[in-house]
Amino acid sequence: MVKIRPEEIKIFSNYIYSVTGISIDASKAYLLETRFGKLLEQEGCSSFGDFYHKAKSDSRKILEKRIIDAITTNETLFFRDNSPFDLLKHKIMPDLIDTRSGKGPANLRIWSSACSTGQELYSIAIVIKELLGNHCPHKITLMGTDLSDAAVAQASAGTYNKFEIERGLPREKLQRYFTPAGGNWKIKDEIRAMVTFRRMNLMQPFVGLGKFDIIFCRNVAIYFTLQDRKKLFDKIADVLEPDGYLLIGSTESLTGICPRFVPKRHLRSVYYQLK
Ligand SMILES: C[S@@+](CC[C@H](N)C(=O)[O-])C[C@H]1O[C@@H](n2cnc3c(N)ncnc32)[C@H](O)[C@@H]1O
Repeated sequence: MVKIRPEEIKIFSNYIYSVTGISIDASKAYLLETRFGKLLEQEGCSSFGDFYHKAKSDSRKILEKRIIDAITTNETLFFRDNSPFDLLKHKIMPDLIDTRSGKGPANLRIWSSACSTGQELYSIAIVIKELLGNHCPHKITLMGTDLSDAAVAQASAGTYNKFEIERGLPREKLQRYFTPAGGNWKIKDEIRAMVTFRRMNLMQPFVGLGKFDIIFCRNVAIYFTLQDRKKLFDKIADVLEPDGYLLIGSTESLTGICPRFVPKRHLRSVYYQLK
């Protein structure tokens, strides 16, 4: 495996930061070597210096996208941590539908903002389908975004292998919402049609997004610097409706990060709302 030289670590981690916002400190040289070893070989690069120059000079940004796919940690699972989905079912959706449907059907927008390979957004869609049924009068828009093209492509295809399916998806939901597809499982059209996916970098300004009623931003800010986390949650506050809900990861907290949000509790779950 190609070793990264001390002088290359800073240059390459600065480059990773500039395209992803992911902060890698100098002690993580091994991470760069293991994540990029294969790609360096495939690209015929004998050093990280060559690899960096090759990526920088690729005007079509094909190598940059492959680098992003390799450095992002796409770890996710269906119904991850359970409690956000219970909260959605028992508190958030009933409350929002109640307050929004005074003059007719409610119009709700939900965003899974680092959706990885789609399990989070499909879990949300399944909760909503089970809660509101097939003849739901309300307009519910579900959008998933992620920086990694490979993750977004898999989310859009909605196809999962046995290992991915076995992580978090109850058997009864597998049978109800997925069909076998050549050794894998594919989400059924009735759920697929409820969601859209696209690539988006959370480090960039949020342009043309509109406002959301519910935002999931889970297990992504951990990769960013404190300063970037502050900027991210400030931008999220800007696109959340005044009575909207923000859900973050079970090990994350906004204390000292964004004073615009207050934590609230329902049963054993924590969610955030604007002050
Ligand atoms: C660990 S996964 C979390 C997935 C899901 N939210 C969950 O909690 O199961 C983190 C995701 O954040 C994405 N990511 C990393 N940096 C990002 C950025 N700057 N903009 C958008 N997504 C990013 C990665 O591609 C990855 O899919």
